[in-house]
Amino acid sequence: MEYPTEVLPVSAAAIMRAARLLSSGQVVAFPTETVYGLGANALDEAAVRGIFEAKGRPADNPLIVHIAEACALDALVAEIPDTARALMRAYWPGPLTLIFPKKDAVPGIVSAGLSTVAVRMPDHPVAVALIREAGVPIAAPSANRSGRPSPTAAAHVLEDMRGRIPLILDGGACAFGVESTVVDVTGHVPVLLRPGAVTAEMLRAVLPELSIDPAVLSPVAEGAKPASPGMKHRHYAPNARVVIVDGTKESAAGKARALYLEAEAGGGRAVILCAACRMPRYAGCAVFSLGADAREMTAGLFDALRRVDREGYTLAIAEAADTEGIGLALMNRLLRAADFTVVRADDSP
Ligand code: TXA
Ligand code: MG
Repeated sequence: MEYPTEVLPVSAAAIMRAARLLSSGQVVAFPTETVYGLGANALDEAAVRGIFEAKGRPADNPLIVHIAEACALDALVAEIPDTARALMRAYWPGPLTLIFPKKDAVPGIVSAGLSTVAVRMPDHPVAVALIREAGVPIAAPSANRSGRPSPTAAAHVLEDMRGRIPLILDGGACAFGVESTVVDVTGHVPVLLRPGAVTAEMLRAVLPELSIDPAVLSPVAEGAKPASPGMKHRHYAPNARVVIVDGTKESAAGKARALYLEAEAGGGRAVILCAACRMPRYAGCAVFSLGADAREMTAGLFDALRRVDREGYTLAIAEAADTEGIGLALMNRLLRAADFTVVRADDSP
């Protein structure tokens, strides 16, 4: 179906309109504190199918269900483990998604046939108002076409979803600009599946036993079954090739510059992605600053990856991120954008 896609700035009337569309089984994009979501009534199988169609999302990749009150959890999940209660107390509402054993009321299409369901309580006034107004839990993946960088502004959503959905609620830029942290609390030990703004350190302050899934920083082996289906799909990727350069401050800059010159000599157009303070090292090169610190850089990454394509670059060379705090989320998304292509500067002669 082809829609004239409307972009409405947030207002009480716009939220009402979006809620009515959701109630009638339509798909609507809305802002959250992480990234924009592509929402539909989580309990309406046909509506949820509309999300998969609009995104071009593989049917084996499950969705997150968004709720506005913790009490809405009971209708969705079979059990709330103690580990989950502890994390919910500490970080809900907020950028934290938990994986629970699911109840039958959640349609199989939402969980892609898994026996578990991902649930998040966002901390964004528009998302919360929309869920309340619609009166149902909202299934919502990030509002990008499958495989593209997640949208952190309404303009990004329009870029990917024009003609595919009736309405985008424009609530401005997303504060964190990176998708929620995902933790599986169904097993013996809680497992971090996707790093986000609720950092591994913050999780371990509550649950010291937390383990980190190896897929956070390493590719899932061909044929292996990842704990989170989303981890096996190429993700966050612009059309341009992305390469990560890892090394000391000196060697990384030298290697990045060498790759840059090599690409330009071969007729390509390269751009360097780095922290604001590192820009002077690349005088004479095209450079995008991601931001001043790890939090800003994480929030700026997806916009920068989209800009790489808009401005016609063929190669983006990114400096590796320090994996402390939110840096783990930054490196996780960079690695996926780069399809795990990392060049170690110190290895070069
Ligand atoms: O911040 C966010 O989480 C945003 C906003 C809109 O809330 N949503 C989001 O959704 O990023 P999505 O669909 O792009 O990412 C959901 C991730 C995927 O990697 C998916 O595989 C994983 O969560 N996931 C969902 N349900 C799961 C389940 N039952 N078990 C394991 N992983 C699951
Ligand atoms: Mg996504």
